[in-house]
Amino acid sequence: MKKKILIISGGISKERAVSLETGKQVAKELNKNGYIVKITEPDFKLVDVIKSFKPNTIFNALHGQFGEDGYIQTILESVKIPYTHSGVISSAIAMDKELSKKIFIKNNILTPKYILYSFNQSKLNLINSIEKKLKFPVVVKPINEGSSVNVFICDKSNIIKNLKILKDYKRIIIEEFIPGREIQAAIIGVKKLGAIELKPKRKFYDYEAKYNSKAKTKHIIPVDLSKNDYNKIMSLALKAHKLIGCRGVTRSDFKYFRGKFYLLEINTQPGMTSLSLVPEIAAHYGINFIQLIKMILNDASTKK
Ligand SMILES: Nc1ncnc2c1ncn2[C@@H]1O[C@H](COP(=O)(O)OP(=O)(O)O)[C@@H](O)[C@H]1O
Ligand SMILES: [Mg+2]
Repeated sequence: MKKKILIISGGISKERAVSLETGKQVAKELNKNGYIVKITEPDFKLVDVIKSFKPNTIFNALHGQFGEDGYIQTILESVKIPYTHSGVISSAIAMDKELSKKIFIKNNILTPKYILYSFNQSKLNLINSIEKKLKFPVVVKPINEGSSVNVFICDKSNIIKNLKILKDYKRIIIEEFIPGREIQAAIIGVKKLGAIELKPKRKFYDYEAKYNSKAKTKHIIPVDLSKNDYNKIMSLALKAHKLIGCRGVTRSDFKYFRGKFYLLEINTQPGMTSLSLVPEIAAHYGINFIQLIKMILNDASTKK
């Protein structure tokens, strides 16, 4: 009998457009391969849609807040149908850049030094208090955003202005800026999928560099690393994936500087359009788009 897959995409996060594209492309591929597919939004009708469609598996194609942070996963646990990618707790930890950095540090995974920013902090002392712990330039970012949305590289002259833009977020981190190369590594299940280097033409790998082909970010695969360093980055990505208890596919974002890998974050719902990085890595290592989707579906579950 044909398998029924319900794809949840869209949502209310700032990555809505990317999620819709992920949903559309995964649906197209599943349709081509004989599955019965339905796409839905994660709105108040979701549980009714699940109950009437009765999918074998739910493919979570959401990104960002309410889709990647444990919220939607709680609803999917309650309907007891296997869903793809990480479960409630792992999603919540991975989405929280501060919490996940604490876990990385405790387990000897290098990550840029950081402080938590408090909006009550006096602006007069801000620069001084940052300089007690970090060197400028620094990176300011919300702890729970994605796709480089509202990530700013700051020096002393523009940090206050940039922090103002982030005033609606509850928690912000200020991190030391790590120069050097941008390399990302993907894991599926307990398998090391591979890594890719991104060379943005822009100041950093920002939203435009990620999604606008005119921004001309270069994708380099295979990555130009010694065998030893390649093994190192893949082992770090697998270690982070296991430590946080992730399921299905994850993509860990690193900076590589002076022979050291700094883990910026682990993504539990990486982009899955046919032009996204994880499918590109998979394809390079001989796993085509439908095979990758099937691997993700096979790892779907509840109770984790
Ligand atoms: N500490 C840092 N040093 C250098 N570049 C950084 C740093 N933090 C973020 N960046 C840049 O911003 C991009 C997005 O940051 P990241 O922490 O991965 O958040 P997001 O969840 O938005 O992808 C990174 O891919 C990198 O180019
Ligand atoms: Mg990232």
